[in-house]
Amino acid sequence: VTGQPINDARTTAPAWQAVASLAAFAGVAALVIGVADAFTRQRIAGNEARELLRVLHELVPPGSHDNDLAADRVLLPVDGPGEELRPVHRARRAGAPTAAILASTTTGYAGPIRLLVAIDPGGQVLAARAIEHQETPGIGDFIDPGRSPWMDKFSGRALGEPPVERWRLRSENGDFDAVAGATITSRAVINGVRHVLEYAADHREEIWAP
Ligand SMILES: Cc1cc2nc3c(=O)[nH]c(=O)nc-3n(C[C@H](O)[C@H](O)[C@H](O)COP(=O)(O)O)c2cc1C
Repeated sequence: VTGQPINDARTTAPAWQAVASLAAFAGVAALVIGVADAFTRQRIAGNEARELLRVLHELVPPGSHDNDLAADRVLLPVDGPGEELRPVHRARRAGAPTAAILASTTTGYAGPIRLLVAIDPGGQVLAARAIEHQETPGIGDFIDPGRSPWMDKFSGRALGEPPVERWRLRSENGDFDAVAGATITSRAVINGVRHVLEYAADHREEIWAP
């Protein structure tokens, strides 16, 4: 029988060489992916920190405090079930607290509505914002900043202003008007802001601790 020898030394490298080059390639690939991942994580963390500060500054303007709003925070327990903590950010001028920003999630028409509420040390609302929601465009998105002044109605309000039992829709013997055709979103936000004020009253010492 004529033909090529089965092991032609000119074309077939030893198996260990193939294994070694595969391992080297895998090592380089892992290194490249690892470095890229570290850079990406760092960039995402940087973007998130900037975005957090931007949102916090929408509620408490930069000129109204002299501390680092994003860094000055306490983690307080959520008063529902579970062991989650909620961050509360504090604004200060010359060391004295001037505002606290609390987060709350309320259930709207289409899902959770995430709220941020800034209050002063007297418990009065400085500003309330919906920062994330899935309410229907054109119906429930009046809570977006710039789309309607509806969220401004909370500024200057507090737990006694109106009395807590009147923190509900006018149609339910409360003091707040709903947006017509969007009662569910309106009710959810009123409940969410009231919840923040009740929480702040219950955790006054931790929130305003020096
Ligand atoms: C497609 C669709 C989307 C809706 N989106 C919302 C919404 O985002 N927020 C809301 O409060 N109601 C929404 N509604 C209306 C509610 O079903 C409900 O009718 C309304 O909240 C009641 O408000 P009213 O008492 O002022 O009529 C939507 C209804 C439909 C059919």
